[in-house]
Amino acid sequence: MPGFRRDAQGAAYLGRTTVRELLERSGLPTPVYLYDLAAIRATATEMTGALGSHPHLLAYAVKANSAGSIVRLLAGLGLGADVVSGGELELARRAGVPARKIVMSGVAKTNDEIDRAIAADILAIQVESAEEIERIAARARATGTRARIAIRVNPGIEIDSHAHIATGHDEAKFGVLRAEVPAAFERIDGEPEHLALVGLSVHVGSMMATPEPYRNAALTITELARARRQKSGSLEYIDFGGGIGIDYGNAPCEPPAAFAAAARTVLRDAGLSDLMLVMEPGRCLVAPSGVLVAKVVGTKVTARNRFLLLDAGMNDLVRPALYGARHRVEPLDWAPGATEYRVVGPVCESADDFGTHAIGDRVPEYVVIRDAGAYGFSMASEYNGRPLPGEVFVDDGAIVSVSPSPGREDWIARRLRA
Ligand SMILES: Cc1ncc(COP(=O)(O)O)c(C=O)c1O
Repeated sequence: MPGFRRDAQGAAYLGRTTVRELLERSGLPTPVYLYDLAAIRATATEMTGALGSHPHLLAYAVKANSAGSIVRLLAGLGLGADVVSGGELELARRAGVPARKIVMSGVAKTNDEIDRAIAADILAIQVESAEEIERIAARARATGTRARIAIRVNPGIEIDSHAHIATGHDEAKFGVLRAEVPAAFERIDGEPEHLALVGLSVHVGSMMATPEPYRNAALTITELARARRQKSGSLEYIDFGGGIGIDYGNAPCEPPAAFAAAARTVLRDAGLSDLMLVMEPGRCLVAPSGVLVAKVVGTKVTARNRFLLLDAGMNDLVRPALYGARHRVEPLDWAPGATEYRVVGPVCESADDFGTHAIGDRVPEYVVIRDAGAYGFSMASEYNGRPLPGEVFVDDGAIVSVSPSPGREDWIARRLRA
């Protein structure tokens, strides 16, 4: 069975092999991320299966984890990419994602990024404002090209998630307000030699537990798509975005395939079955596949707290500090026991705190921080003079690639040069 699990004795596994064995075989020091590619493959395959014969594109949100091993794997399974920078665009292309399977989002794309996207002839640049349409038109005019664009619609929907990961409400910086979309259609159609409207997209935020809010956001743009079609305006695809949640151990989430099935039903019911369906899953594909392994540096007992001190901190995994997110922290070699510890990292910030976790009577040598495959390494920093962590990629129980930490000397040399 792919992914993280424990055997009857409580040892942690990724697929067929214990995490301890993988750690030792990799030879990498902690903190280190380990990912099970088989788990990513299984989820991607389930999602694709749920979309069946409906024309579709799963555009993996590269921001969740930009590791080449992961992007190449997904490209090989036929997935595309949702990118948000010139860097991610180039990475996706060099990892083998065909240009016409790439969509580019982002509220502040630079002219250089726009030029690269136009030159690569990607599926679409997803525009986030009327002003951006003007900038793209100017770049296309200047280069004598025709830019393929989609409108990212802000549907004015609040979802039940942390304020920092909700993006679809009308005060957010993202997307073109729904009321302004007809004018955007007109503007784009008015310059057909340089602008082609090929899609409509929406993304309301992350960590949706059920397909309901996803469906509601989808309905807003299917209406717009139907209205456009009735006026015989062209459209190649409709993109319902990402935001599919996963169970971090405290709240169940419906599986990604249920979101895919709901999306397909929305299009069928709207009479838009011929329109290509794009989804932009990030977290749900990669988060459960990854663990961050940290060494226990020691303990510290005060009148109020029993701390477990790790060699991994908020620079390696910032989600708890940034969003108040909770990741399960468990002993590597045995299942969580009753004795609780407040688990903290070495960074000089009070926010460097992974929360209180059941660890057990003995102090473990290592802990695993679970479900760390998404927005873990990709958000890591070198804060406090701490080099980026290493990464290990596992498939079917065997290590298929390793990416060591650049290490302390590299950090010192670069900072001394600065
Ligand atoms: C436009 C867009 N698409 C897709 C995603 C991926 O979201 P998730 O990882 O929650 O699926 C994001 C996340 O920020 C996003 O901004």
